[in-house]
Amino acid sequence: MKADLLIRGISQLVTAEGPGPKRGSEMRRLRLVERAALAVAEGVFVWAGAEADWEGGAAPDIDVGQRAVVPALVDPHTHAMWAGDRLADFDARISGMPYEAILAGGGSIWSTIRATAAASQEELVALAKPRVNALLRSGATVIEVKSGYGFTSDAELAMLLAIRVLAGQTPARIIPTLLIHVPPREAAARAAYVSDVCRTLVPEAARQKLAAAVDVFVEKEAWSAADAECIFLAARRHGLPIKLHTEQFNRVGGLELGLRMGAFSVDHLEACSAEQIAGIAAAPTLATILPGVSLHLGLPPAPGRALIDAGAAVAVGTDLNPGSSPLFSASMALALAVRLNGLTAQEALVAGSVNAACALGLRDAGRIEPGLPADFLVLQGRDWRELLYTLGSNPVRDVWIRGERVVA
Ligand code: NIG
Ligand code: FE
Repeated sequence: MKADLLIRGISQLVTAEGPGPKRGSEMRRLRLVERAALAVAEGVFVWAGAEADWEGGAAPDIDVGQRAVVPALVDPHTHAMWAGDRLADFDARISGMPYEAILAGGGSIWSTIRATAAASQEELVALAKPRVNALLRSGATVIEVKSGYGFTSDAELAMLLAIRVLAGQTPARIIPTLLIHVPPREAAARAAYVSDVCRTLVPEAARQKLAAAVDVFVEKEAWSAADAECIFLAARRHGLPIKLHTEQFNRVGGLELGLRMGAFSVDHLEACSAEQIAGIAAAPTLATILPGVSLHLGLPPAPGRALIDAGAAVAVGTDLNPGSSPLFSASMALALAVRLNGLTAQEALVAGSVNAACALGLRDAGRIEPGLPADFLVLQGRDWRELLYTLGSNPVRDVWIRGERVVA
């Protein structure tokens, strides 16, 4: 076997095996090899196993000094591009004002929309770049970035264009999503907005290949399930998969719509009922949970444990955004999922790697396996569980993308 790079001195090599999504108890099944090595050729894994079993002959090698290696992470849910800040919201919330009340009063997402509208493309890219690079250093080599602070069709397309420019300026693989976030505040303007989204925005985003999926925020203070259905039908007509922000605060039919329409993922789920958990477990759709929101807003966490026990496929994301989750670390999101959502260390790794990739429709990320792109992490410590254990310092020492060590 020919390799152009051998990574050796790995104390533990840990990965999910075989294509995802992994559901229920499968989320606890990992391959763990001690005293391991892995081989890469042309940016792709060609072998991984016990170092003593390597028979591929001489190759340039790097000794990682008895540190653990895991697959690179995937962050399947971020709003990493925004302008302005939400520090006034933060103060108001600390004083007891709920997130939904700030949103209903015209602050919150609305204030970010105003600040984002006032920023140039260059400014938006310059603001987003250090954020995605922070996620990258925390272990995520594939990062979803949503629009959604644009509000008009032109402004959303401008955001998607800025995300495309951003993608060219970071080593991370950026997956862009068109997010239809909040409706016009005057009820009469809603129907016209939906029609513009369906007739102009979705087709244009698809035509210019600016978005890999369409997301809608279905909530009392945002879109109804009926409006979302129109938007999703337009997405389907233009070949774009769908996903939802749903059951975050209230149950207004978003979850049932998403499952019925074959969404890639239903995200948030803090307000999910036991019956809905069973519905998710019976569907191919992934459940993406976002523990940063529970921590930052002080709200009940999504039922991660119950979802897995019911047999669902769970993914974890940071939901990096200025209002509900200023969480700039993909590994910290997993550490929080263990504390807040009741995932085991094994489940959290799977949720943040192979399952997070599947939530984006990707089958070639989140595993260390011959034939897949050589994206992996060398951790600081000998034991891989430090990835989930560590709080507040980066458990990731080196990030590798396609067989190259990343400097970001
Ligand atoms: O995922 N819930 C809606 N959207 C975002 C928050 C965006 C914001 O507050 O700016 C979320 O929590
Ligand atoms: Fe979000």
